[in-house]
Amino acid sequence: MTQFAIKLTLIFVFLCFAGCGSSVAVWTDGEVPFVRSTPEVIERMLEVARVKPGDVIYDIGSGDGAIIIYAAKKYGVKGVGIEIDQGLVERARSNAYVEKVQHLVEFRAQDAFTVDISPATVVTLYMLPEFNAKLRPIMERQLKPGTRVVSHDYPIEGWTPVHAEQVRGTFVHDHTVMLYEIR
Ligand SMILES: C[S@@+](CC[C@H](N)C(=O)[O-])C[C@H]1O[C@@H](n2cnc3c(N)ncnc32)[C@H](O)[C@@H]1O
Repeated sequence: MTQFAIKLTLIFVFLCFAGCGSSVAVWTDGEVPFVRSTPEVIERMLEVARVKPGDVIYDIGSGDGAIIIYAAKKYGVKGVGIEIDQGLVERARSNAYVEKVQHLVEFRAQDAFTVDISPATVVTLYMLPEFNAKLRPIMERQLKPGTRVVSHDYPIEGWTPVHAEQVRGTFVHDHTVMLYEIR
C-alpha cells in the first residue's frame, strides 16, 4: 500500500471511532490526524482528572487548542499544547486570544516525542494506540508521581486505568474517557 493509501485508511478508521461525521479529520505531518474532542468529552476529561488550581496541563497533539483553552477558562489553570502542525498552533494561539486566556496558555509547534513534559501535573491525550504506546516510556521517565493522564477513546497499552467511563456521542459511537495515575 502507498503512504497516501495508508493515511486515507487511517483517517477512515479514526473517523469511524470518533463518531463518523461528528468531526472533520485533517491529516497533518504527525502520526494522528486532527479530530477535535467534543465539548462534552473535554468537560469530562478535566473533571475525571480532578483539575484544580495550580495544575499544569499538557495536551499532547493539541490541535486547535480546545482542551487547554477550556481548562484555562473553567479552572484558571496554566496549560501547554504540543502540536506538530504549525497552522493548528497559530489557530490555537488566536483562539486563546479570542477567549482571553492567552496569559495562561502556551502552544508549541513541536514533535511530542522531543518535548520535556516533566512540568505537567495533568496530561491529556486524544491519540491513536500506537502513538500512546510510543509515548508511554517518555511519560514513565518524565512525569512525577501523582500526575494524572487522561485519554480520550484510546488506551495506553500496558497501563491499567484507575477509572474509565462512557460519554454519550453520536448514534454510531459513544466516547470513552480513561484516567491513569503515575505512581
Ligand atoms: C485527534 S487530534 C486531537 C486534538 C486535541 N487534542 C483534541 O482532543 O481536541 C491529534 C492531534 O495530534 C497532532 N499530532 C500528531 N502527531 C503528533 C506529534 N508527533 N507531535 C505533536 N502533535 C502531533 C495532530 O496534528 C492532531 O492535531
